[in-house]
Amino acid sequence: MDQSSSAVSKVTVPIILERKLRGEKTTCVTAYDYSAARLVDEAGMDMILVGDSLAQVILGYDSTVPVTLEDMLHHVKAVRRGVRRALLIADLPFGSYQLNREQGVASAIRLLKEGGAEAVKLEGGRKRARLVRKLVDAQIPVVGHIGLTPQSVHALGGYQVQGRTLDSANELLADAEALEEAGAFAIVLEGIPRELAALITRRLRIPTIGIGAGPDCDGQVLVFHDLAGLSYGPPAKFVRSYANLRETLHEALTRFRDDVGEGRYPEDRESYHWPAALRTEFAKETAHQV
Ligand code: KIV
Repeated sequence: MDQSSSAVSKVTVPIILERKLRGEKTTCVTAYDYSAARLVDEAGMDMILVGDSLAQVILGYDSTVPVTLEDMLHHVKAVRRGVRRALLIADLPFGSYQLNREQGVASAIRLLKEGGAEAVKLEGGRKRARLVRKLVDAQIPVVGHIGLTPQSVHALGGYQVQGRTLDSANELLADAEALEEAGAFAIVLEGIPRELAALITRRLRIPTIGIGAGPDCDGQVLVFHDLAGLSYGPPAKFVRSYANLRETLHEALTRFRDDVGEGRYPEDRESYHWPAALRTEFAKETAHQV
């Protein structure tokens, strides 16, 4: 899509809701900077998420827990500058909404007002329902996130698939219904069995966006670096890499290193030159000096 074109059909919250009614799948990919945001937006994704996964894939932490609201804002602003069409969602990071509901609303307002996000995502089900209601009352669109919620890694005891027993599946179903009731316009279902994701998807009027939740969700989200083959470590079962950019970039970087080392880069055609007249004058002057 031509970024200079004014005929961009902007994706909005009502459009995301309509997609479920029409039986159309919704697509979402994370982005953390301007150039990735442009790539994802120009590929026609419906939603772009500035996920707190930036803690791991960009900042090198081993969980999403350390990332701050200031970190998020820095990246949301960069992504904002690269997005024309997709709906831009930003994660509320751990510690920016757990103290009380006022803190959650204040943090979300910063993501919209300073960062340029159009919606926020937060983790948790029934225990977050009153905050979701308060955000929606403050005209802030909210995406819920239940199942394997990475901000709870210490409470969960690791990154394990959730909802594998009847009791825990019922808990997650109740969480999903509470988030819908509170006014969330979509819910991310992460790391839950396909059967449970299908059941939740059938029960809700709002779309479910799956990641490791099987194909029956209303949409799917992937982390940019996983999709592009830029991640380190063994991929999760659900990850499909559509490219191997790590290999491609490794090759490009080692070729540059070798070309510089061997004097093959830059060539004359990659160099700036004096105009011919100045070259002649310089040649005359240096001849004179000798
Ligand atoms: O932070 C993130 O990237 C996410 C997705 C995995 C849904 O929350």
